[in-house]
Amino acid sequence: MFLPVFSIFTILISHTYYSSANSVFDFCVADFSHSGPGGYGCKDPTTVTVDNFVYSGLAIPNNNTTKVDNIIVDTNKLPGLNGMGVTMARAYFPVGTGDPVHTHRVSEAVVVNQGTLLIGFIDSNNTAYYKTLNAGEMMIIPHTFMHFIINVGSTPAIAYGAFGSEIPGKQSINNAFYGGNLPSDLVEKITLLDSPQVHNFKKRFGGTN
Ligand SMILES: *[C@@H]1O[C@H](CO)[C@@H](O)[C@H](O)[C@H]1NC(C)=O
Ligand SMILES: *[C@@H]1O[C@H](CO)[C@@H](O)[C@H](O)[C@H]1NC(C)=O
Ligand SMILES: *[C@@H]1O[C@H](CO)[C@@H](O)[C@H](O)[C@H]1NC(C)=O
Repeated sequence: MFLPVFSIFTILISHTYYSSANSVFDFCVADFSHSGPGGYGCKDPTTVTVDNFVYSGLAIPNNNTTKVDNIIVDTNKLPGLNGMGVTMARAYFPVGTGDPVHTHRVSEAVVVNQGTLLIGFIDSNNTAYYKTLNAGEMMIIPHTFMHFIINVGSTPAIAYGAFGSEIPGKQSINNAFYGGNLPSDLVEKITLLDSPQVHNFKKRFGGTN
């Protein structure tokens, strides 16, 4: 009797601590010299300035317009994000390019800023939800599902994304299977592809073994 109650209480406390660092202090601007909620310790609040909450890099267009270019505004770029459970990103897609299928640990809201993007995700029933969106339209990608973005327009496209974590992570499916250290015979067994197919994919994505 005692143990379950205690466990629930512990879970509640740790959940509160984890999910809302801002309920025990207003903010926790990252002090990179030690760890704490959200990843880093808190800078002395008396030394915090407005610039700890501002990042101006998204005002600068990407220089290289020949390739997909992502800027991830995480705690390393914006120390005020520490413990706030948010990341911002900007992605630039030249004509005919895209971001192949990948996942994050958390949900992502994508807003098309310029151009025409086909955005989609696949749920746990393998149902694909995808749509072509234009500037000003947005889509929510539910947490953990495989998703993708493709520029299907005739001009370069830009999207902004907001993630529900200051460290959302990114796992690209092709790289996970064919870009890492899984031995080819294992890859064959878990993908049901044959040896030449696995060899081709490994060559393409840089996998060892
Ligand atoms: C583009 O180049 C300029 C000048 O070299 C640089 O200041 C700027 O940071 C670059 N932009 C990006 C997004 O890297
Ligand atoms: C742009 O990126 C491409 C592909 O990575 C590279 O080949 C090219 O040299 C880059 N151009 C500039 C101006 O940096
Ligand atoms: C799951 O997908 C099948 C088709 O593959 C469909 O018939 C079924 O309605 C789907 N179930 C749900 C809950 O979406």
